[in-house]
Amino acid sequence: MEGISGQVAIITGAARGIGAAIGKRLAAMGATVVLTARDEARLMQLTAEIEAAGGRAEYEAFDLLDEAAVERFAAGIQQRHGRCYILVNNAGVGRMGKPLWETAPADWDAVMDTNLRGAYLMIRAFAPMMIAAKAGHIINISSLAGHNPLKNGAAYSASKWGLNGLTYSVAEELRDYGIRASVIAPGSVNTGFGGGSSGKNPSRKIQPEDVANVVAMLVTQAPQSFVSEVLLRPTFKP
Ligand SMILES: NC(=O)c1ccc[n+]([C@@H]2O[C@H](COP(=O)([O-])OP(=O)(O)OC[C@H]3O[C@@H](n4cnc5c(N)ncnc54)[C@H](OP(=O)(O)O)[C@@H]3O)[C@@H](O)[C@H]2O)c1
Repeated sequence: MEGISGQVAIITGAARGIGAAIGKRLAAMGATVVLTARDEARLMQLTAEIEAAGGRAEYEAFDLLDEAAVERFAAGIQQRHGRCYILVNNAGVGRMGKPLWETAPADWDAVMDTNLRGAYLMIRAFAPMMIAAKAGHIINISSLAGHNPLKNGAAYSASKWGLNGLTYSVAEELRDYGIRASVIAPGSVNTGFGGGSSGKNPSRKIQPEDVANVVAMLVTQAPQSFVSEVLLRPTFKP
């Protein structure tokens, strides 16, 4: 197993939920985690928690929809660290609950721009640093909705089907540089995503830490092989 101690790990959507659990887990493994989202107060709080537990963390609040902000963030990482070994594209929005024909174009755009274009912008910004180092992991958090139909969530489902195609394709573009791109597709996770209450039993759902465990596994693979995708399901139906 390869260690990640001292490596820089960037996580989008790290203010809460799955992204926060991934940040804590990678920091506990010795990485310097860079937490990003829009909510600066929550990022600051999580950074303090990680540091209090003996980890190394920093944060930067920006909107993933803002191309210039993504570029500024990457320039700052290049300047401060000169590298990025792990990039977890986790930020996402749902905007579910309506059939496609009643979905407002603004909601369609928010879903596609966050879930799909956001991952593209981050890879565009950080792949060059990984290519220069000839090493890196890109992990995109998709969903089982990226494999299945999702009634009243067509835009969300389409964004995650798209993210799977993006991941498998960019994995082919980057593997010759020693960079491995993988996708994790969880079922319902116990977070406040999409406003929370789905009527499912929260304790039987997948927990954010379960997704973080998969990230930990992906970033510690031996260098000669990699897992393209993990489909993560609850043991018991919630
Ligand atoms: N929970 C589930 O049931 C489930 C299942 C399968 C897959 N997933 C996927 O897992 C990922 C994380 O979900 P979660 O459950 O942890 O959701 P969450 O608790 O709602 O967290 C979403 C994160 O994304 C950030 N974000 C949203 N829009 C952003 C933007 N424009 N710019 C920057 N950051 C933005 C949010 O921070 P700010 O609001 O502060 O920006 C937040 O930190 C998503 O991609 C989701 O699709 C979730």
